[in-house]
Amino acid sequence: MKYIALFVSTFLLFTTAAAADDEYLGTQSLISLGGKFYDNHWLQSERKPPSERYPDYPTEIDVSSSETWRCVSCHGWDYSGADGHLSQRASSPLFVSLRDSVGKPVQEIAAALKSGRHRKITEVLEPKQVEALSVFISVGQHDIREALSDGKATGSAERGKDIFEGACVSCHQKDGKAYIQGEPGDKPALGWVAINRPAQALHKIRNGVPTADMLSLRFLPQSRLIDLLTYLQTLDTEAEQ
Ligand code: HEC
Ligand code: HEC
Repeated sequence: MKYIALFVSTFLLFTTAAAADDEYLGTQSLISLGGKFYDNHWLQSERKPPSERYPDYPTEIDVSSSETWRCVSCHGWDYSGADGHLSQRASSPLFVSLRDSVGKPVQEIAAALKSGRHRKITEVLEPKQVEALSVFISVGQHDIREALSDGKATGSAERGKDIFEGACVSCHQKDGKAYIQGEPGDKPALGWVAINRPAQALHKIRNGVPTADMLSLRFLPQSRLIDLLTYLQTLDTEAEQ
């Protein structure tokens, strides 16, 4: 009986994940909109975060108080919280992984985002915006470990160069040093960002950048995006003077 229950619940788990995927096929722009809210929902919704730092946000992380209210500041560019790149900056019980939320029903995620500690964080968002964010959490995450080995992207730089020259140089120029501002502490060079912040680069390449004129490349297979990241890691890392 116990085994049957286990079988049934595993089956249900897989079918709900698959249903969530199918339901959002053909809606890459909704998912990438959610990805932009995940990056900075205050900027994307044109609202201001509270002026004080988030209570107990680690002080060793030297960022302005508004930064501490972004989803990405607690859950990371790899969505893995303390299991991922955030652990290199500080340790905090606030750094919770969202990898277990993959495939969860969107309504369940939306309800969690509107209650408890997230209520104050998401109260500026409209229901449609919370939905986009929840869809992103459910079906829009990727596993960064599939893209990197020891911090190096594992694709083909030759294939990545074709994408870069076709889709990126018009804004970022051949050396990848134009049109970049990035996050506090970043050097404005795509080569630098791809090597030092690969998870951040891949999130922004897939989903775009809040309020910026940046592409969202979710329509390409992930393996092509890993090729692109591999090529970006070959670019010069020094910023223009
Ligand atoms: C200041 C840190 C912090 C920020 C900012 C933050 N979270 Fe969280 N989040 C947490 C913590 C801690 C948990 C663990 C559960 C709890 O304490 O509510 C969590 C849990 C979650 C969960 C799992 C919820 C569940 O019960 O299944 C989701 C999904 C989530 N966060 C998404 C988001 C999104 C989306 C944003 C941005 C709108 C965000 N978080 C902003 C700290 C944060
Ligand atoms: C229409 C102009 C445009 C095109 C084309 C474009 N970008 Fe961007 N990109 C931007 C803007 C604007 C930003 C945001 C600037 C900022 O705040 O860093 C940005 C930001 C980025 C970032 C984030 C940098 C950081 O420090 O976090 C990456 C990575 C990036 N672009 C890569 C690419 C790649 C790869 C391509 C080609 C597939 C591309 N971009 C095509 C305009 C463009």
